[in-house]
Amino acid sequence: MTSSSDTRSSATKQIDVSAIREFGEVLLTPPVRLCFIVEEKYENEVMPGAVVDVLRSCGHHVDVLRPNGTVTDLWELLPTDAARYDAFVLKTVSSGPGQSLLEAAAAADVTTVNDHRAIRLARDKAVAAVRARAAGIPFPKTWFASKSTLLDQIPADSYPLVVKPNNGSALRDIYRVDSPDELAQLDIDDSGSLLAQPYLPNPGYDVKLYNTGDEVFATVKRSPLHPGADVVEEKIPVTPELRSLARAVGRVFGLDIYGIDVVETAGGWVVLDVNDFPSFGMVPQAAWRLARTVLRVTRRQAEARASARASAPTVYRPVLTSVAEARQ
Ligand SMILES: Nc1ncnc2c1ncn2[C@@H]1O[C@H](COP(=O)(O)OP(=O)(O)OP(=O)(O)O)[C@@H](O)[C@H]1O
Ligand SMILES: [Mg+2]
Repeated sequence: MTSSSDTRSSATKQIDVSAIREFGEVLLTPPVRLCFIVEEKYENEVMPGAVVDVLRSCGHHVDVLRPNGTVTDLWELLPTDAARYDAFVLKTVSSGPGQSLLEAAAAADVTTVNDHRAIRLARDKAVAAVRARAAGIPFPKTWFASKSTLLDQIPADSYPLVVKPNNGSALRDIYRVDSPDELAQLDIDDSGSLLAQPYLPNPGYDVKLYNTGDEVFATVKRSPLHPGADVVEEKIPVTPELRSLARAVGRVFGLDIYGIDVVETAGGWVVLDVNDFPSFGMVPQAAWRLARTVLRVTRRQAEARASARASAPTVYRPVLTSVAEARQ
């Protein structure tokens, strides 16, 4: 994928010696070939570029595919006998092109991090709500509306409501609506489907739980629905209860690298949002942790595929066997 390779040189990056002591596994794992799909929005952000830098500095081969800047030869996603990529990695963006490419790679039975099915479950908030609820994860009752005029069908005794875009992210277009009259006054962007939930009374801050794949971290963040709240945004200790809630969400969705937003209510902690590959702000050595997880998942999936092939040899018949064939 030469047209899309990142030109940054890993040789210019300083290797952090203390990180290598703790994360030697990243350095000692035999080199793998990875393709990071980087959406336009993240081209100049810390993540996922910092993970790419760590992996390269440890001798792994990482190409960066920028779907917003290059035409992609889909046949280059195929696994050939030269095993072009061991895994594809995506930090998704709402309605971005990266998800199609990740799923295309998965369609050719190439490992994806996170798992492409898990990303689909988390990315669509309606799907995520039902997935969480079905598995017994505490989650607010949620209505789906294809346009804002339908929201007046929600019973008046469910107010106050929170209305948000179904494909929302980065706190866009989130409204607290206190009454049906207020709903009628609102000019809600109707370009996509909407979700509505009862507003859950909370202290004015979210706890963001991040799972880097090896450990859960927690930070406090002011809720956008409480802009004036007196909140110190900081990293906090993770209680066993929060850790087990975060891990349960990971298992239910099948995510390896993810974050969840939770609020503390009178009835206990409630999950409001599940994000595959968040930015891991304030998480110490996040890039190293994530690099290690990417390698572990890649290795685990390679082993699972090998044993699946061994137990069902007649089912697995790769159509393409060489790079030359794949180019046609
Ligand atoms: N039902 C609710 N009750 C109380 N507060 C809510 C509710 N839904 C959302 N909020 C508040 O709004 C914030 C944003 O909601 P949500 O996480 O669903 O949207 P988002 O656009 O995905 O945000 P981001 O991706 O930036 O985390 C929540 O973190 C929470 O503070
Ligand atoms: Mg959120």
